[in-house]
Amino acid sequence: MNSKESPPEKNKKINIAIDGYSSCGKGTLAKQLAQHLNYVFIDSGSMYRAVTLFVLDHHIDPQDEASVERVLGDVDIRFDLNSETGRFEVVLNGVSVESRIRDLRVSSQVSYIAKISAVRRKLVEIQQKIGLNKGVVMDGRDIGTVVYPNAELKIFMTASSEVRADRRFAELEQAGQKVTWQEVFDNLVSRDTIDSSREDSPLTMSSDYRVLDNSDLSREEQFALAMTWVSDALNEIG
Ligand code: DC
Repeated sequence: MNSKESPPEKNKKINIAIDGYSSCGKGTLAKQLAQHLNYVFIDSGSMYRAVTLFVLDHHIDPQDEASVERVLGDVDIRFDLNSETGRFEVVLNGVSVESRIRDLRVSSQVSYIAKISAVRRKLVEIQQKIGLNKGVVMDGRDIGTVVYPNAELKIFMTASSEVRADRRFAELEQAGQKVTWQEVFDNLVSRDTIDSSREDSPLTMSSDYRVLDNSDLSREEQFALAMTWVSDALNEIG
């Protein structure tokens, strides 16, 4: 066996970047991979959502960039391990805000916050520190292009807008939120547009991404496919 064919060393770790549109299952796949590989899962969108929550709680207009920038110094974002779930949760100024960042109040404003370069600079710095030692699965919009441009595996996830709205609507309904399917659909489409057309770090893909369209794939099928890519990436560094 030459060195190229050797199995990867068990302790070799990679960073996995998962980017794509809103609600196409990035988090689900990222969690599955992290659990299976014993890696850390980081939902970078939760950081933009936490900043949005702070801004809204302080009665600042998320579209007023200057005011948002002025208070950024007062925003401390970190991740703490929740010992019950075994997952890292976003903590805003010392308080876990996981349960408050998914409602439509935050979802409808977060794209404006994510357009602000000063916000992105602050959060990207934190995200890059988390990945220094490898073994991170991070999902977002700019992970493979800006945060970890050297990630050993980059996955771009997509699914039709209708399929994504169906899934998101079901999640919100289950969480007891009173929203209509149309509101969820409109919010998705509007976020996709803002996220893909903003000047700073728009959602985009380079040729080194693997594309995963899961409109017609089950969770198990998409996980199996992604794991073949993980094996390839581990073999490459092995
Ligand atoms: O993944 P999500 O829906 O929780 O993301 C919330 C918002 O944050 C979404 O409008 C896109 C933005 N975002 C971003 O610009 N860059 C990231 N790395 C992650 C999220």
